[in-house]
Amino acid sequence: MTTNTNNLEGKVAFITGGNRGIGLETARELGKLGATVVIGARDSKKGQAAAEALRSEGIQAESLLFDVTSAEDRQGAYDYFNKNHGKLDILINNAGVQKEVEHLQPMNNTSTVSSAVLRETFDANFFSLIEATQLLLPLIRLSSSGRIVNLSSVLGSLTVHGNPESQIFNVKLLAYDSSKTALNAFTVHLAHELRDTAIKVNSVHPGWVKTEIGGQYAEMDVNDGSKTSVKLATLSNDGPTGKFYFLDDELPW
Ligand SMILES: NC(=O)c1ccc[n+]([C@@H]2O[C@H](COP(=O)([O-])OP(=O)(O)OC[C@H]3O[C@@H](n4cnc5c(N)ncnc54)[C@H](OP(=O)(O)O)[C@@H]3O)[C@@H](O)[C@H]2O)c1
Repeated sequence: MTTNTNNLEGKVAFITGGNRGIGLETARELGKLGATVVIGARDSKKGQAAAEALRSEGIQAESLLFDVTSAEDRQGAYDYFNKNHGKLDILINNAGVQKEVEHLQPMNNTSTVSSAVLRETFDANFFSLIEATQLLLPLIRLSSSGRIVNLSSVLGSLTVHGNPESQIFNVKLLAYDSSKTALNAFTVHLAHELRDTAIKVNSVHPGWVKTEIGGQYAEMDVNDGSKTSVKLATLSNDGPTGKFYFLDDELPW
């Protein structure tokens, strides 16, 4: 049985794509627990507005220009945390894209999805996320309880995709889904490499959440959608690592 830490005083959390949606709500909830939250946003005005809104609620919030696909911004993030905080306790790899909808590609597009959509999706959801995490890892190692939370999706689960009884059996978006499958592999591999440290690395399925990515027909609001990220960000030292969760349920890879 693991417990969660509900006092994050003195902890610093970086939430990528934190200016709206699940990321903003995750920042709000971590801030309410006492963490200083740094909102990464690729539009600095939107990041500043989100941080300002959180500060008006009594949360210690900062914002940082951060497009995960920009090498300059990734280095900027390292420099920012190194200079201003000297460590990073919680990294929420939340920024993500769903390019199939953006490019008006139909579902079940496996035989036709363009390589541009595949590459853009993997660039944001996988390659750049890994590069950012690798760069920030030395600062996470300086934390007494580093937590890395990767926003995956049940759509990344090959086991669930293979089950005709599952709700997502007919939801097949090759670029998005496989980018999250690859992200899950990163979770497993990084957790293994860090298994003898205090750092925990886990994947999240936030639920089907009403945001731009989730769409208007989604079942959950952003507050419920932030709960799994918050839970994995606040794991106590005896908590799991290298796992995939939706709320209290462990999901199959
Ligand atoms: N909603 C769901 O039902 C659902 C289900 C499973 C998994 N997820 C995952 O949950 C995470 C959060 O999604 P959401 O539903 O909250 O979606 P959202 O409201 O569309 O938010 C996505 C966030 O990511 C940011 N972003 C996109 N590309 C970026 C880039 N290159 N660099 C930095 N930030 C970038 C966006 O910034 P801008 O405001 O500048 O666009 C925005 O802040 C994603 O990883 C998504 O795949 C969502």
